[in-house]
Amino acid sequence: MKNICVVGTGYVGLVTGACFANLGNRVACLDIDDAKIKRLRAGELPIYEPGLDTLVERNTRAGRLRFTTDYAEAVAGADFIFIAVNTPTIAGGAGADMSYVEAAARSIATHLRNDAVIINKSTMPVGSGDLVSTIVHEHLTIPTLNVAVVSNPEFLSEGFAVRDFQHPDRVVLGSVDRAAAQRVAELYLPLRAPIVITDLYTAEMIKYASNAFLATKISFINEIARICDLLGADVKEVAAGMGYDQRIGNKMLNAGLGYGGSCFPKDVKALAHMADEAGLHPQLLDAVMKINQDQRRVAIEKLAMELGGPDSLRDKTIAVLGLAFKDNTDDMREAPAIDIINWLIEAGAEVRAYDPVAVETAQKLYPDWQVTYCENEYDTARGCDGVILVTEWKQFHDLDLERLHDVMRGDEKGPVFIDGRNFFDPAQVEQMGFRYHGIGRGKARRKSVQHRTAPAEQPSTVPGER
Ligand SMILES: NC(=O)c1ccc[n+]([C@@H]2O[C@H](COP(=O)([O-])OP(=O)(O)OC[C@H]3O[C@@H](n4cnc5c(N)ncnc54)[C@H](O)[C@@H]3O)[C@@H](O)[C@H]2O)c1
Repeated sequence: MKNICVVGTGYVGLVTGACFANLGNRVACLDIDDAKIKRLRAGELPIYEPGLDTLVERNTRAGRLRFTTDYAEAVAGADFIFIAVNTPTIAGGAGADMSYVEAAARSIATHLRNDAVIINKSTMPVGSGDLVSTIVHEHLTIPTLNVAVVSNPEFLSEGFAVRDFQHPDRVVLGSVDRAAAQRVAELYLPLRAPIVITDLYTAEMIKYASNAFLATKISFINEIARICDLLGADVKEVAAGMGYDQRIGNKMLNAGLGYGGSCFPKDVKALAHMADEAGLHPQLLDAVMKINQDQRRVAIEKLAMELGGPDSLRDKTIAVLGLAFKDNTDDMREAPAIDIINWLIEAGAEVRAYDPVAVETAQKLYPDWQVTYCENEYDTARGCDGVILVTEWKQFHDLDLERLHDVMRGDEKGPVFIDGRNFFDPAQVEQMGFRYHGIGRGKARRKSVQHRTAPAEQPSTVPGER
C-alpha cells in the first residue's frame, strides 16, 4: 500500500484517485474547489462517469480514499503526488495555460515534508517536466528533500475512463530520474499493461502526438465523407471497408460532426502552437483543425438546404438530440452541440434539446440560451420541423422513428432528419416519411443517378458490418 495524493479532482484526478485506491493504495484527492470537495464528501459525484460512483463509494467506505481542500493534510506523508489539474488553452491564444499547474507545483513544494515523486498527469507542453521541477525546487520549504518529477500522461477516454484506467493500452513514464520512473511503474504493475519508460520530453510528446493522430483520423474520414457526398459513395461503408485493413484499423473512423471535448481541440492547437514557436509551420495539424471546425457547419447547411435555403431557419423549430461532446459523459467542453445551437439561435430558429445526462451542464454553462430542455427524444421533437442527432448516445440507435415522425410538424415533404452520427439506414428513415441526411452518405449524387438507372442500388450487408 502506497500513500498517494492526487492534486486536482476533475475527470482525470477523480478517476485516477478512485482507481489507485481500488488497487489498495491510500489516496487523498485534493482540490481548490470547495463545493466539489463538499459534494464528494457527501457521497455525491460532481461528474457523470459510468462505474465511478461504485468505486468512490467502496473505497471511501474502506478508508482508502478521502477528499480534501487542505494541501498540508493531503501532501503529508505522500510518496507519490499526481498533478491532474486543468491545462486549458490560454485565453485568446493557442498554447496551454500552465498557471494551474504552476500554482499546484508551488503549493505542493510549500507543504511537502518528506521525499516524494511528483507525477505530471495533466497534459503539459513538451518541457513542462523541467518547469515543474524548477518551481518545486525553488519553493521547497525543506530544501534538502529529494523530489523527482516524472511525466505520466493520461490517455483515458471520458465515458470509459474507469475501464481505460484499469485496462490501459500502455502506461507512459518519462523522467531524467529513471529510478523514480521505475517506482511509479510499480504502482501500475497490477494492471499488467505495457509500460514505456523514456525521457521527460518524449513522454510529453507521446501524449500530444497520440491525440493529434486520433484527431487527424477523425478529420480525415470527415473530409472523405464530404467527398463521398459529392461523388455518391457511402462513407459508412467506405470506413468499414478501410477498417478491415489492420494497418488502418476500424477505430475513430466514424464520420460525424467532428471531435470535441476537453482534449483533442486544445491538444492539437497546443501542439501546432509548439511547432510554430519552434519555427515549423504545422500544415497537417492546421488542416485537421480547419476541417473539424467546418464539419460542425455541415449539419446546419444540410438542414437549411432542406428547409428552403440559408434564411429558412427563421421561425422554424428544431430538435437537438444530444448536448454532451460524446456519449456516456455530461462534459460539454468544445461540444459540437454548442456551435450548432448557437448557429440555430442566430438564424432565428426555436431550439428544443435533450440529452440523457448533460442538460444540467448546459443550463449551468449557457444560462442565456433560449432553449427548451425536454424529458426525452419524442417530447423534444414535438412540433419540430427538423431534428439533428448530435451526440452518439447509444439510446438514439433505438429511436422509434414512427413515433418521432408522428410528433413532428414538417411541411408536405415531411420533417427533416439530420443524422450527425450516421446511426441510421437512409432508406429506412426516408420510408418513414422523413427527409434524411447523414454525413457522407452520397445521397445527392445517387438520387440524381437513380432517375436514369432505377432500381436504386441498396448497400450490401456483410458479416461483421458495423
Ligand atoms: N478529461 C479527459 O478526458 C482527459 C484525458 C486525458 C488527459 N486529460 C488532461 O488531464 C488534465 C485534467 O483534465 P480534467 O478534464 O480532469 O480537468 P478538470 O477541469 O475536470 O479538473 C481539473 C481540476 O483541477 C482543480 N484545480 C485547478 N487548480 C488547482 C490547484 N492549484 N490545486 C488543486 N486543484 C486544482 C480544478 O478545481 C478542477 O477540479 C488536463 O491537462 C487534461 O488535458 C484530460
